[in-house]
Amino acid sequence: MEISEMREWERISAHSHILGLGLDENYRALRKADGMIGQIEAREAAGIIVKMIKEGKFAGNAILIAGPPGSGKTALAIGIAKELGEDVPFVHIAGSEIYSSEVKKTEFLTQTLRKAIGVRIHEMRNIYEGKVESLSVEYMQHPYNPYQKIPATATITLKTKNEKKKLKMDQSFAMQLLQQGIEEGDIIQIDADSGRVVKIGISKDAVEEKSYDLSSEKIMDIPDGSVLKEKEFVYTLTLNDLDMMQSRSGMDLASLLFGASERKEISEDVRRRVDEQVKRLVEDGRAELIPGVLFIDECSMLDIETYAFLNKAMEQELSPIIIFATNRGITTVRGTDIKSPFGMPLDLLDRLLVITTKKYDAEDMKEIIMTRAKKEGIKIEKDAMEYLVEIGQKASLRYAIQLLAPAWELANKEEIKREHIERVYKLFADVKRSVNYLRKMEEEMIYD
Ligand SMILES: Nc1ncnc2c1ncn2[C@@H]1O[C@H](COP(=O)(O)OP(=O)(O)O)[C@@H](O)[C@H]1O
Ligand SMILES: [Mg+2]
Repeated sequence: MEISEMREWERISAHSHILGLGLDENYRALRKADGMIGQIEAREAAGIIVKMIKEGKFAGNAILIAGPPGSGKTALAIGIAKELGEDVPFVHIAGSEIYSSEVKKTEFLTQTLRKAIGVRIHEMRNIYEGKVESLSVEYMQHPYNPYQKIPATATITLKTKNEKKKLKMDQSFAMQLLQQGIEEGDIIQIDADSGRVVKIGISKDAVEEKSYDLSSEKIMDIPDGSVLKEKEFVYTLTLNDLDMMQSRSGMDLASLLFGASERKEISEDVRRRVDEQVKRLVEDGRAELIPGVLFIDECSMLDIETYAFLNKAMEQELSPIIIFATNRGITTVRGTDIKSPFGMPLDLLDRLLVITTKKYDAEDMKEIIMTRAKKEGIKIEKDAMEYLVEIGQKASLRYAIQLLAPAWELANKEEIKREHIERVYKLFADVKRSVNYLRKMEEEMIYD
């Protein structure tokens, strides 16, 4: 896994139970739905924002989710992402990542903003489509290695409900067939211009004949119509995807010889070219732009320069919707000595719609912990649960949830009892207790 994927996984795994905002058709929150529990008003507010985003009525604005630690700010943002659906880009970063990245701050921000804008491209392509009735690959002698044969051409017969067609294809096609392990009975598409092949499934009748494990295959009917047809393809890429593609195609000799290293910076020139291409596609009706969401968690880490940059980005014609989250009240804006609400500069506060999340009561907290336990396959006794909720109320919900895994280990993965919670509570300090401890140690050292 790459580092970025790893981060992504760590970030979302704690929220894997969240499937949406849990609203009814009138945007009213059900107390418990889609993995969401309580926090009714914040969820309803988030629902209205989702509606506005979907209708394209939120440009130039930003949202701030403010509330104490463990009150579900991140969970709420994930819920918003789920409601927006797969097609709307949702980029999730933590404020501190801006500084840890290997590229300049502004470059990182630009890339991140462009990841949050989607381009839905429609393309009509001529394709051959059908069930593979028969297939044979003809081999030839390898030009240098006398002991090896290599594929030369392939002959394939495709069948639809109405037609059968025999195609004689070239070497690169034959290679693709072998690489992808395409067999008789598969349903495939061949792009007529590029010769690229994709397997889209297995035909029903072929499945009935063979009887191997097909859990990962899509079983489908034989396609209608003629084998060669014009078909619309729709796919969504982000501006950043297009930037990367564009800058990669300009590979130079050095990168061919020494391996293409992932380019860290994308030039303004590349971006300008991409923007022009996209604009043309949109004007021709072949693409639509989809402004997505950039979620900046723990935004108290952002400094005045970053805020200024984001503020300017929001004024651009094409900008994602930015959602911030913080647990700070009035504090200094980083990089200045000015105090302001949430540590944000005033011009940004002007654009902001604020959603507040509140600390959970024992009842809600219990249900959230239970949901997490269930999701992780952890069994916990009633008494132990009560104690854990008590801890959660004193420290934080997140801390209580974190104790589940080590307690489960102690319980030998049978059932967590009160004594297991007591023990992990002693072994793993929460933030408050560990800070108090360090403070006491400091005092002892000073007055020793
Ligand atoms: N209303 C809720 N319903 C379900 N799970 C929640 C809810 N609020 C928080 N959680 C879960 O509790 C944990 C802590 O919440 P989190 O969103 O990380 O809090 P915050 O971001 O405010 O610090 C996470 O695992 C989160 O998914
Ligand atoms: Mg959070």
